[in-house]
Amino acid sequence: MADSPLRASIDVAHVPSKTTLLESRWPKLALPRVPLLAGPTPLELHESLSHAAGGELWIKRDDLTHPVYGGNKVRKLERLLGDAIAEGADTIVTTGAAGSHHVLATTLFGKRLGLAVHGLLVPQAASEHVTLDLRAMLGLGAEITPVSYFSAVPAATAALITRLRLSGKKPYVIPPGGSNGIGALGYVEAGLEIAQQMLERRLPEPDAIVVPLGSGGTVAGLAVGLAAAGCLVPIHAMRVTPRGFVGRALVLAQIRSAIERLRLSDDRFPRILGVATDLYRIDDHELGEGYGLPTPQARAAMRLAEEHGLLLDPTYTGKTLAGALRLLREGTTASGKRIQRVLYVHTLSSAPLRPLAEKSPSIPHRLDRLLT
Ligand SMILES: Cc1ncc(COP(=O)(O)O)c(C=O)c1O
Repeated sequence: MADSPLRASIDVAHVPSKTTLLESRWPKLALPRVPLLAGPTPLELHESLSHAAGGELWIKRDDLTHPVYGGNKVRKLERLLGDAIAEGADTIVTTGAAGSHHVLATTLFGKRLGLAVHGLLVPQAASEHVTLDLRAMLGLGAEITPVSYFSAVPAATAALITRLRLSGKKPYVIPPGGSNGIGALGYVEAGLEIAQQMLERRLPEPDAIVVPLGSGGTVAGLAVGLAAAGCLVPIHAMRVTPRGFVGRALVLAQIRSAIERLRLSDDRFPRILGVATDLYRIDDHELGEGYGLPTPQARAAMRLAEEHGLLLDPTYTGKTLAGALRLLREGTTASGKRIQRVLYVHTLSSAPLRPLAEKSPSIPHRLDRLLT
């Protein structure tokens, strides 16, 4: 397999795909979805990084999910926005930090579907990237309400929902990171894709699949998709948010809810709660001092990746690739064999942010407190 130099942007002829592996395997499934992805994202061996890492590093290119804004949110939003529309909603309410990729992606795709988007945002340390994210949200027309702390978000959401309902709107709430049983369905598809791509290209089975653990939807969906395909490669979820925010109980709830939805819609979807739950483990080694605070390992992974043409961020993908490189260096499988082949799921959008931010050259004063 040739090393594909990482493309700066995605094919401009991006035509969202009407079909999914999920619905083609289980044709009775009737779950709402708005098509955003053009089809499976590439799965590639990164030869030069593998060489530097001392083991095979394969990359699932989920940075290429969409040419305008890619990353892992696009798969979740196919299902979440589909569900919102099926419920008759006209307004999305969601939440995240000031530079939330999730709120930005929700604004972009929600607006394109004619939905209003409200973001309840909590303060975040200012950086060029965070400021660009926030400007992009504003430029795309998100209505932003600052909230002082995450713990105050439920009350602020309830107040906003009441206000919207009183003004005749039909709000639909998407949880932080788009992570619930519906959002996870997007990553069930990714799990099926990975299994299919392994079969088609006759890739040797990796020893580990490595993903970030932020709010849990990515790992929950992947575990269900891989388990449903009978592809039992252990998933290592690199924690990037604190234990109080996400742990096994929250991921289990998302796995359970995704399977329940699938089985309710088509009872031939397999009963795989136990298999999916056993398939992933949470790796706490990369979090460091906390969410958004880069570790020396993440910085080193970012530098190395950049030298080899792969752009990472310090909050999610830097820490996750640091974990993947550690596994290649010193990891062992459950049977005690050295880990030699890792599939890293690259969840960061590769689409340039600046064009999205152009319409909002500055951040209004009332939002100053969002950038600490
Ligand atoms: C680039 C990136 N990777 C990974 C994640 C975490 O994924 P999840 O919230 O599904 O665990 C996020 C969440 O915001 C993200 O922005």
